[in-house]
Amino acid sequence: MTAEGNGRSIHVAAVPGDGIGPEVMRVTLPLLEAAAALDGAAVRVTELDWGGDRYLRTGAAMPEEAADMLLGFDAVLFGAVGRLDIPAHVSVWGLILALRQALDLYVNLRPVHVWPGLSIPIRDAEGTDFVVVRENTEGEYTGAGGRAHTGTPNDVAIEIGIHSRAAIERIAHHAFQLAGSRRGRVSLVTKSNVSRFGYALWDEVVLDIHASYPEIEFETVFVDAMAARIIERPQSLDVLLCSNLFGDILSDLGAPLQGGLGMAPSANLRPGGVVPGIFEPVHGSAPDIAGQGIANPAACVLSAALLLSDRGCPEGAAALQRAVGEAYASDTARTPDVGGSATTERAAEEIGAALTTTAAR
Ligand code: IPM
Ligand code: MN
Repeated sequence: MTAEGNGRSIHVAAVPGDGIGPEVMRVTLPLLEAAAALDGAAVRVTELDWGGDRYLRTGAAMPEEAADMLLGFDAVLFGAVGRLDIPAHVSVWGLILALRQALDLYVNLRPVHVWPGLSIPIRDAEGTDFVVVRENTEGEYTGAGGRAHTGTPNDVAIEIGIHSRAAIERIAHHAFQLAGSRRGRVSLVTKSNVSRFGYALWDEVVLDIHASYPEIEFETVFVDAMAARIIERPQSLDVLLCSNLFGDILSDLGAPLQGGLGMAPSANLRPGGVVPGIFEPVHGSAPDIAGQGIANPAACVLSAALLLSDRGCPEGAAALQRAVGEAYASDTARTPDVGGSATTERAAEEIGAALTTTAAR
């Protein structure tokens, strides 16, 4: 394929995965291509059949050399993982968690943006725009731990949370730098009043690093208090710096502010361009609505916008975000999860139409 404009080509691995993943992926890819063209970039897509079907067929959701294969791509657009006929831990450890770890994608970015016109369960949240910067390799997500006396009344389980200085440092630098390009505020989320080792290290390390970013306003907030603050005063937040599990939970708490999980995008990154980022809607495979053609494509489209922004296509990224906002301002584009009756296809058509209009301006 020949690229246009400045001749750049973005080679994207598309992993539709399970449930509604393929449905939202199918309509997102043409929008990704159209938006990339605004920056003169061409998108080349290679689809990979990784996921539950492959697991049931071959015993592995992805090939053993999956992470190496991905090194040949500029980015990965990921649909969803999880099926009712496969245990959840098998699905996630066999695919998305394994890839986050193998590629050392230590930044998980989860923007929370309130879209004008979408009805949400919280009053007075207009203007909310914050981003969860989630450490993506450690905490409760390393799989470290064990069981003893299994199957007896003395059954015990140990699940170890791992927090290293190196991992905290690199994610903290990312958060402070990101805040510098936004509204200049970082809120570190911990629970160091109770967890006196792991989260105490977070407090110490991040406070130290803040000294190199004196222009950034900094506060530490316990995770329980942050949960309340996200509902009560979401506009007061800019960058939330979180451990893996806290970021997982708080980003789902942010989802209803955006109109629900159907609107929530994410990016898994290792800044520096050595490995491709994985861009994925936060919603998961939603088996209850899979196959009905009514899944909300917005989260996948907004993840594609994050992909473009990461790949140096700022015009396309901004246009895609604007297009989602403009399309969803009218209820004809909205799928049932955000109060409309549009199909996935219809919603994507409306986003496409808005993209054409917004690009022409
Ligand atoms: C997410 C998901 C994953 C996570 C699961 C599927 C492993 O909930 O991306 O937020 O916990 O990270
Ligand atoms: Mn989650």
